[in-house]
Amino acid sequence: MENTDQDLIDKIQAGKQRLGRKLMILTHHYQRKEIVDLGHYRGDSFDLSQRAARDEEAEFIVFCGVHFMAESAAILAKPRQTVQIPDMNAGCWMSDMADAFLVERAWNEVAALVGENHITPLVYMNSEAAIKALCGRHGGAVCTSSNAGRAFDWAFRQKEKIFFFPDEHLGRNTANALGIPADQMRVFDPEKPLGGNSEADIRRAKVFLFKGYCLVHTRFTLDDISAMRTKFPDAKIVVHPECTEEVVKASDAVGSTSFIVKYAAEAPSGSTVIIGTEIHLIQRLALEHPNKTILALKESLCPNMYKINLKNLLACLENIGKTNVVKVEDAIKKDAFIALENMLSL
Ligand code: 13P
Ligand code: SF4
Repeated sequence: MENTDQDLIDKIQAGKQRLGRKLMILTHHYQRKEIVDLGHYRGDSFDLSQRAARDEEAEFIVFCGVHFMAESAAILAKPRQTVQIPDMNAGCWMSDMADAFLVERAWNEVAALVGENHITPLVYMNSEAAIKALCGRHGGAVCTSSNAGRAFDWAFRQKEKIFFFPDEHLGRNTANALGIPADQMRVFDPEKPLGGNSEADIRRAKVFLFKGYCLVHTRFTLDDISAMRTKFPDAKIVVHPECTEEVVKASDAVGSTSFIVKYAAEAPSGSTVIIGTEIHLIQRLALEHPNKTILALKESLCPNMYKINLKNLLACLENIGKTNVVKVEDAIKKDAFIALENMLSL
């Protein structure tokens, strides 16, 4: 007979008890409620990477999130720790857009024109380890949506230009917040010669934005915002910085998933908060705050985050340290570690 959800939950709880402090289950805010409820810690991608980097006790880290997050945890974890992900196919569309070959070619083209002494690579956490390693080799850092502004400041203190991979929108929203004029930002389309720019454009620009994006967050439009403003004139709208510039500008607040969690928690009782991010986080926040009206700007689901379920989490615990172990080649690990460490010490 098939296990019911309750059977699976009971077995996972028993596995957690059996493994005790040897086990740490990390869950990203976009995970289903039942997964978040079973985790030891939940957080945004920065919080979880910090947890993985600082933990001294756990032997087994089970990462309920997408592959780039588990891979970053594996780079930061101690050699005696193993990192597992319940489904190896839980990838990320945005990360897939930044193919390592295309990123390296883009970096080489721009660095050759402006001189490597004048540009720092910054890479969003949402990328494969090889891209983080490229950043580590060239004096750059990783950043997440919760510290992108600080990462830009850090990079500008060293050199005058930044190449930001792979989220065009987070890069532009961060540069806008720092007051960088639009004419000093250039999108770099890896499909086009020189990214679709002239040599003069490249020499003049201050920030290069690799043309990558998140399909979950670019679904939100100005029309969605207008429709919600008409229906709920007193509501506040908060969105994730992977949304387009126009959506961010038309919203009341913007920030990482942890920022959104805090924003909803701090909103006055009786108020309405409309959120532009992945639907599972919004649904959980609505349950956690019955005294407020928490609504989705529009339903948008990340199918990769959704791949993690009770069945594959249980399978991970039953095969602890053995199946779906996330491994990173030593040479890549060494350079990617530098870029991640640069982020953690920002
Ligand atoms: P956070 O860093 O805000 O958790 O976001 C990760 C992500 O993948 C958003 O799409
Ligand atoms: Fe990647 Fe977008 Fe899913 Fe985040 S929400 S994991 S950026 S596809």
